[in-house]
Parts: sequence; C-alpha cells; structure tokens
Amino acid sequence: MSEEIEDHRLLNESENEPFSSVLERRVSRRSIMRGGLNVAALSMLAGFGLTACSDDDNDNPSVSEDDRAAAMMLAFEAVAGSKQDAVVVPSANASQENAGAALTAGTAAATSTSGYTAQVVMPWGTPINNQGTNWRQDLAFTPEIQANSVGMHHDGMYHFPISDDTASSNFIMALNNEYIDQGALWAAQGGPSANPRPADESRTEINAHGVTVVELRRDENSVWDVVRSSQYNRRITSATPCDLEGPVAGSQYVVTAYDNTGRTTRGTNNNCANGFTPWGTYLTCEENWPAIFRKDEGREADDNRLGIEQGGTRYDWETSAGDATESNGEFARFNATPSGETAAADYRNEPRTFGYIVEIDPYDATSRPVKRTALGRFRHEGCWPGKLVAGEPVVFYSGHDARNEYIYKFVSDAKWDPADANMAGATTNRLAIGAKYMNEGTLYAAKFNADGTGEWLELEPDTIVPASAGSRYAGQTLASALGLEAGDRAGIIIHTADAADLMGATPMDRPEWGTVDPVSGDVYMTLTNNSDRLPEGQRATFSNGDSIEAPGASYGEAPVNAANPRVNNNDGQVIRWVEPSPGETTFTWDIFVFGALGLESDPEDYNRSSLTDQNYFSSCDGLWYDDRGDGQGILWIETDTGGTSVTNDQVLAVVPQGLSKGNNASVIHEGNQAQLKRFAVGPNGCEVTGIFATPDKTALFINIQHPSNWPIDDNGSNTPDATIEPTGNVRPRASTVVIQKADGGQIGV
Ligand code: FEO
Ligand code: CA
Ligand code: CA
Repeated sequence: MSEEIEDHRLLNESENEPFSSVLERRVSRRSIMRGGLNVAALSMLAGFGLTACSDDDNDNPSVSEDDRAAAMMLAFEAVAGSKQDAVVVPSANASQENAGAALTAGTAAATSTSGYTAQVVMPWGTPINNQGTNWRQDLAFTPEIQANSVGMHHDGMYHFPISDDTASSNFIMALNNEYIDQGALWAAQGGPSANPRPADESRTEINAHGVTVVELRRDENSVWDVVRSSQYNRRITSATPCDLEGPVAGSQYVVTAYDNTGRTTRGTNNNCANGFTPWGTYLTCEENWPAIFRKDEGREADDNRLGIEQGGTRYDWETSAGDATESNGEFARFNATPSGETAAADYRNEPRTFGYIVEIDPYDATSRPVKRTALGRFRHEGCWPGKLVAGEPVVFYSGHDARNEYIYKFVSDAKWDPADANMAGATTNRLAIGAKYMNEGTLYAAKFNADGTGEWLELEPDTIVPASAGSRYAGQTLASALGLEAGDRAGIIIHTADAADLMGATPMDRPEWGTVDPVSGDVYMTLTNNSDRLPEGQRATFSNGDSIEAPGASYGEAPVNAANPRVNNNDGQVIRWVEPSPGETTFTWDIFVFGALGLESDPEDYNRSSLTDQNYFSSCDGLWYDDRGDGQGILWIETDTGGTSVTNDQVLAVVPQGLSKGNNASVIHEGNQAQLKRFAVGPNGCEVTGIFATPDKTALFINIQHPSNWPIDDNGSNTPDATIEPTGNVRPRASTVVIQKADGGQIGV
C-alpha cells in the first residue's frame, strides 16, 4: 500500500498504553545504543527459555566462532542503495578479501561467485486466457480485457504445488491486486473520466482489484511465464460473488438488498498481505476497503471506528449508479446511506460484508471465495498460520494496519489433524476443511507488558471487561459494554476493535506483515511507522466522543513519554514473540530490529539498532521467514516508503539463528547488525511487497508495486529483464519479479 490509499486518521480513542510507551519502559535507549541488552531484556531472554552471556562493561550476548560457524551464512555482498528505474540484485564475484573482512566483523562469509538475475513475470495486464488482449503501451482497457488479465498493484502472494515433483518449477500462483493507479490504467485516454463515472470505467477499475490466480511455469532457460488458459486461471475481483461463513453469516448485521439472508456478498477489495493454510488454500486480506464506501447518514459505531467515508469515495464508483446497464445495484451498493424502509431494501449493511479474511481454493476455479468472519473485522493487513502441532488448535495471527490499532490471534476449536494437510493434485474439498478450522474458534487481541511478557485478551460476548483496563464497564460482559444482546458473537466481530479497546489491548504502530518460524514458533511482525504521536505528558485525544468507552471512538492521537526517543516513529520496527504452545494465552516478546533511514541529519538517538550503509531501512512492511531446515532460516524484510533520498524500497535478509550462539533469541544491535544485509532494491516510486521462494529455494518471488517508470517495454513482452532501466517514459506496470542465481543455486546462501 502506498501513501495514496493509506488512511492516516487516528480512529482508536482508547487510552490503552501505546506500544511506544510500553517499549520504552521495556528496553532503555541506552542499552540499545551500547549494542547490548539491559537487565529487563535479559530477563525477557529467560522468558524465551534461553541464557544470554554478559559482562559488566558490555552485555552483548557473546557469539563464539564455533556457534557462528554452525549457523547458516548469507553469502552475498549487500547491495548499495539505489535510485534507478530498475531492480538491483547482488552481482557476481564477491572477493575473498571482502569475505575475510566480513567474517571479522561478525557477518556472513561472502563466498558466492554467482550473481543474480531478476525477471519480470505476470505484470499488470498480462492475459490469463484467450479472452485477454496482449499488452501494448496504448492498450485501452475494458471491463472484459481487465477481467481476463492480471490485475493491478501486486501485493501478497503464495504458491500451490500442482504435483510434488514439479513444485519448484510449475505451480499455481495466487496474487493480491491491492489497488489501482488510475493514471496508468487510463493512460490511453489521458486519465479517468469525471463524475458521474462511466459504468464501464467503474467496472474496469473494479475488475483491476482483487486476486489473480494463474498457473506459472519455468522453461528450460529458467524463464517463468503464465500458462495461458490453464484450468486454474481466474480473476476474483471486487464484484465476484463470495460466501460469508462464521459468526456474522446469516446475522441481521449483513442483510442487504443483494441477499436478504445475509449469507453472500459481492467482491473482495484492497487485498493487501496474504496468508495460506496448511490444507492448501489461499487467504487474502481486506485492508483499506472502508474508502470504497460512503455513508452520509445513519452512521453507526463501526462506520466511524473503521473510517467509512462520507460525501464521496476513493474512486466514486457509486456515481455510476442509475446507469441503464447497472445490474442488481452493482454500483449503488457503494453508497451505504440508508435509502429503503429496511436493511433488506438497501445497502446500509454492505460495508459490514467487508473487512474479513477471505479463503480461496486455488485448485478449483469454480469454487467461491469464503469470508471467514470468525477471524475478526477490521483493516486486515494479512493472516499468518502459527506453529502447527498435531492435536493442538490451529492459530492465525493478524494485524489491524492503522495507527494505534491492535494485533489479533484466532485459535480454532478444532484440533489439528495432519490428515488434513494439503496434498498436491488431490481432489479434497479444501474449503470444507477451512470451515472446520476457521468458522469456530476464539479471537484474541494482544497486550504487551513492560516486563517482556504479554497476554492474549479473549473477545467473546461473555468475556468480562477487566478492571485492569481502567474502563467504567469493568465487571460487565463485552456484549453488555458494547450495547449488544447477550451472546451476540456476530456483534462482537462487527465491533472487533471496540471490543479490543475495552479489554485493554496495546495500540501498536501500524501492524503490517507477520511470519512464523515453523520450528521454534517464533512470530515476527512489522510495525511500519506511527509518525504523529503527541509529545510527552499530553493526554490522548479522541476522534469520536471523549473516551474509548464510547463504541466507535478511537485514539485521535496517543502520547509518548519523555523516555521515548521516537516521538516520530517514521521508520518502524520488527517485533517478535513466542508462546508456550499455539493455543496459549501468554507470550514473551522483544524488538528484533528498529528501522532507521540512514540520513546524517537524523538525530543521534534515531538509529537504535546501529544500522549502517548495508542495511538502512525504513517503514518495514513485507516479512517472510524462509525455513531452510535444521531449525534455521532467513528472515526477509521488505520496505514501503515509496523511496527516500537514500534509496528506493528494498528487500533485506538476516539469519536470526546466526545472531547469537546459534539460538534465535538475539536482536540486531551494534555488535551484530552487519548480519542484516540489503539483498535487492526496487525501481523508483515503488514499494517492494509480497514474497515467497520455491520449495527448492532456487527462485525468490517478490512484487514491485506502483513503480513510476518501469519495467522496460520489451516489444509487449510480459517477461522482460527487471534490472534494465527503460529509455524514456513507459506506462508503469506493477509486477512480480523472480530472482534467481545465474548458476541455479539457492538464493541467499
Ligand atoms: Fe496495504 Fe498495510 O499495507
Ligand atoms: Ca505499508
Ligand atoms: Ca502492506
């Protein structure tokens, strides 16, 4: 997501202690600047079940040469920051001299002799079947062309094997198309038309959103391309019929003129990060959807809390309503202002059919997407499965990407049965398995304590509001405090964020992606930034009412205290936590790394993890733990600044187990930060997002979203070299990029 569709309003009015404040009480700035861990941090390490070595003068956990040798090493030279209209990847021939210096500095041996390639694959507009139209710079899009081509603004994605034998060379790709660039989409006609939007322009834009599912194949020259007209290929758009399942399905909250029974809706929108399930389905996550709806009157608490628009929408699709070709309120539904006698006669509840985790079976192009409402309703960034243990619940983590909002965990009622694991090629009813694990369970919100512990706070109708949350509703049930009927689980889901307020969840600095080390169960999550907190000592302000206790209220602004040096947290951080077992309601946590932009003008206390030229980053967003076996892996971090004066957005890599004694307890600090390396840089204007590698680790897939002048137009090719700068101006195309080693080896090592 770029600045273009981010919502910078503060909608959480709770007085719950902001994460920045908790953090500052947790680990002092001084200890971080020394590159060590203070007493509190060391006690936290004990919480991870680990022992850290220290001495009086420098309490770095020590790393012996033997331990470092045992950890997997990154074997590429960090690339420099770049401001090109091109993707930059590591080049060949890291020198032995540099390798020796790197080892001395505590970083990985740079022994690679192979450089990397980067190829564009499935850019926006690539036909997925024979109804699509081949790309050209002056292609005039229609609803039909866009519905049969790859959507715009690639974000989260995942791969699904067609057979175990070809899992690394031929698979089904599911890709989110988060939002659109109207300038690029309508370049052939000089931009979008004014209001009222022509119906076919609105339809084309609706069809450019959603999800693209295609078969991808690597040829004998290691070039990847879409298998056009594969049985798996399809587009799911912001108009595709979807089912609602879980607590909200069939409730009064989602009755619309489209479905008086409240069990179906149309479309998924602003699909940002993603997830996947162990049973072989794709999860797509609805993030900045509130801006496609307006509700000028009859607003309810959740409309205000989630930021449904008033007076207009992001693309004004509702202005196409009344066109002679309009079908079944396809445009009218974006205006949720009540117009009928009852909810069954209008679209006042249409926004309540959005804000969910959506499950898609990529193996069955005829299957309908299912909105799994039990996982909560908010601006879902993504959804990540926790460590999988036979006989224990299946858990999913999710973050609400808005300032001062929360992190959530869903714990299934059903216990994991390994017989439900995905089998390539099987004709299993994967969505029935999804219903088993994702329709019934318990939703929790996270509270981070200053002592390095944390709690998952239950959000059920009969959960008692704790006195510790400081609310006047203490002692009442959540249903009562929210003004709901007793036992109204649907109501709790509709008002997920308000329920989390009342329970005392910790407001975070915009949770983005998460990822889980499947062996240790460690969970990592990016907190991208929160650049507008109040100065020390000021009281929180509220956007609706004067207290968090009013449903629909949220923070206007939240203060920091004097000890918090990051009043303006522009650069974000990666947090990590671990739980005793997947279903537990306690955890221990620490900060893995703090972002820093790397400008000399930055205040001295800005760079809390002592980052250097080889790894400066800001606004961490994408995140993926790349399990390489033997309890080791690479943590890949992607950024979303849209480009700074220092560098375009990028991908960084670090082996967490290499930081300290072969365990995974250490954080990035002055003594080991050299192990965090910049692996690739994207073209001007872009955000780098979405990431996975093939099972054999020879191909790393990333997405380049909203580039300004990239990729090259190689005679209409959909597979040009991503590292070549265009000559002159091109019509930009968001695209997937596949990074491979020239010698075919594993990425990163
Ligand atoms: Fe779509 Fe939070 O990024
Ligand atoms: Ca972002
Ligand atoms: Ca994001």
